[in-house]
Amino acid sequence: MRVTITIVVENHSGFKKGLYGAHGFSALVEHKAKVLVDTGVDGEVLLKNMTELGISPEDIDYLFLTHSHYDHTGGLKSLLEARRGRLKIIAHPAVFSKRVALKPHLRDIGIPFSREELESLGADFILSNDPFQFAEGIWSSGEIERSTWDRAVGYLLKDGKLIRDPVKDDMALIIDGKDGITVITGCGHSGILNIARHAQKLMSKPVKALIGGFHLASAKEDILEDVVQNLKAEKLYAGHCTGVESFSYLRCKLGKKVEPLHVGKIIEL
Ligand SMILES: [Fe+2]
Ligand SMILES: [Fe+2]
Repeated sequence: MRVTITIVVENHSGFKKGLYGAHGFSALVEHKAKVLVDTGVDGEVLLKNMTELGISPEDIDYLFLTHSHYDHTGGLKSLLEARRGRLKIIAHPAVFSKRVALKPHLRDIGIPFSREELESLGADFILSNDPFQFAEGIWSSGEIERSTWDRAVGYLLKDGKLIRDPVKDDMALIIDGKDGITVITGCGHSGILNIARHAQKLMSKPVKALIGGFHLASAKEDILEDVVQNLKAEKLYAGHCTGVESFSYLRCKLGKKVEPLHVGKIIEL
């Protein structure tokens, strides 16, 4: 069966009039179920782009949260308010941990709503760090095994102390296809090589396409070269936190197998 992926929120607004670009990520997967991956940075951008792209909040069967950062969860409250029924939300159990950044000043970078507030608006959380299939052909990666470098950022605030945040809540969505899998990552904090390897091992199939933020902005050349040499995927749709310079590096080295993302881009598998 055909799978369609529509980019709903991304840093670049793309080419169609009326779509908003904003720092963040959200994509709609249409398979046997409709799954929204992340909600972008705020409700205004998410709902405006959904309207322009002809996506009704009521039509979404599941929301999958790749991780808790505000640029992926900021539209959640408005999405729930725009719907009548309840919404099943798949995320990691650590999604509500208090997360902060110190630069340019101390600021909260986690999910900007409480679990109670979201549940009162219709959220039904399914929290698991194990991989599982939640809709036909659509899997949560579970917590991602890390065997090489990651791209973790920020700090956890625990008992008044700051601890470096490994961003353990970072997960990917996997679409199971006949001869390969498609992997959607939000920010790629687990490291894009780890994410691809974890998904391939879990599903015992090659990665046909990798879509989302690769978190390579300001990455050193040895990391970029490791990606060029060792990222096993037929096609790379790299956007959001990939960074313009790092995207250019990958494009120069790997050619047209690397494509940029923008709001309104449709990927058909
Ligand atoms: Fe992000
Ligand atoms: Fe992030």
